[in-house]
Amino acid sequence: MNFKEHLKKQGALVENYLVNCLDRFDAIPGGPTGNLGLPAGLKKAMYYSLLAGGKRIRPVLCLSSAALFGLAEEYALPLAAGLECIHSYSLIHDDLPAMDNDDLRRGKPSSHKQFGEATAILAGDGLLTDAFYLMAETASSGRVAPANALRALAAVALAAGSSGMVGGQYLDMEYTARVDISLPELARMQAGKTGAMLAVSCSSGAMLAGAPAAAVAAIDEYGRWLGKAFQIVDDILDETGTEEELGKPVGSDAAQGKVTYPSLVGLAESRRLAEATGAEALAALGRAVAGLALRPERQAQVDFLAELIGYLLKRGS
Ligand code: IPE
Ligand code: IPE
Ligand code: MG
Ligand code: MG
Ligand code: MG
Repeated sequence: MNFKEHLKKQGALVENYLVNCLDRFDAIPGGPTGNLGLPAGLKKAMYYSLLAGGKRIRPVLCLSSAALFGLAEEYALPLAAGLECIHSYSLIHDDLPAMDNDDLRRGKPSSHKQFGEATAILAGDGLLTDAFYLMAETASSGRVAPANALRALAAVALAAGSSGMVGGQYLDMEYTARVDISLPELARMQAGKTGAMLAVSCSSGAMLAGAPAAAVAAIDEYGRWLGKAFQIVDDILDETGTEEELGKPVGSDAAQGKVTYPSLVGLAESRRLAEATGAEALAALGRAVAGLALRPERQAQVDFLAELIGYLLKRGS
């Protein structure tokens, strides 16, 4: 299978699911307000960020990992979409004046620029919370064992929460403008703010598919390494990329005194570190599928996840 075509196909599956995924909140029988639904202005702000593009890497990882362990992509879609909702919320809050204070996201004015801070905060809250409703729908497909769905949801909650992404974002703020931060401290911060969600995007898909515990752990590790490489490249692009291609401001990290890989070890060493980290991801992928009987369609997923590493390392956006 051609890598780019596969990425496009999975991205389209996600996009089609996301495009009206919030509409169901207008018509939930016995909903929280007796079916009064989602306020139009809030819904508009939520869709504004969710449907503004984005690479959809997290849901694509989830679908691929589920398929790798034998669950057809369509049954993992609600979980994958939930991951993208959580990611989109994290971007809205990350851009707020109290955090990174960035005015451009996914090529458009950031949520708070477009709708004001209060609406941006609430659009993020809505996306985060509604994600769990969407993800819970994986259990009603009849194809996913409810225990596997619950395990996956718990893993996503952990990864998104205070000991995962939120914790990493907290450290990012705590470290800003500090000159005494070490490489292990930076690594711990990135493992939270970026690594946790990328890792759980892989492991939750595997959990839904009922993969063995050792395989879940190894694919989680693949995601962790991939997440690290991904953040190093994100930090590099903040210095070397273009606003047009990135769809977000360039030079924002340096302007705010963020502790990043280039700020700590320089651009050349950051590039070397990203490559070495990518190699670790590839090794973990090998461990995840060791001992699996790989039918051709599964081998195609392995090849895709392997190629994704290089693709993310070389990306310009
Ligand atoms: C940006 O994530 C935030 C980081 C964790 C570095 P992405 O680069 O995946 O952003 P989108 O979803 O493509 O906009
Ligand atoms: C943010 O990292 C990670 C999140 C949890 C959103 P960055 O602050 O580097 O992400 P960008 O560069 O704004 O996308
Ligand atoms: Mg940030
Ligand atoms: Mg930011
Ligand atoms: Mg960044």
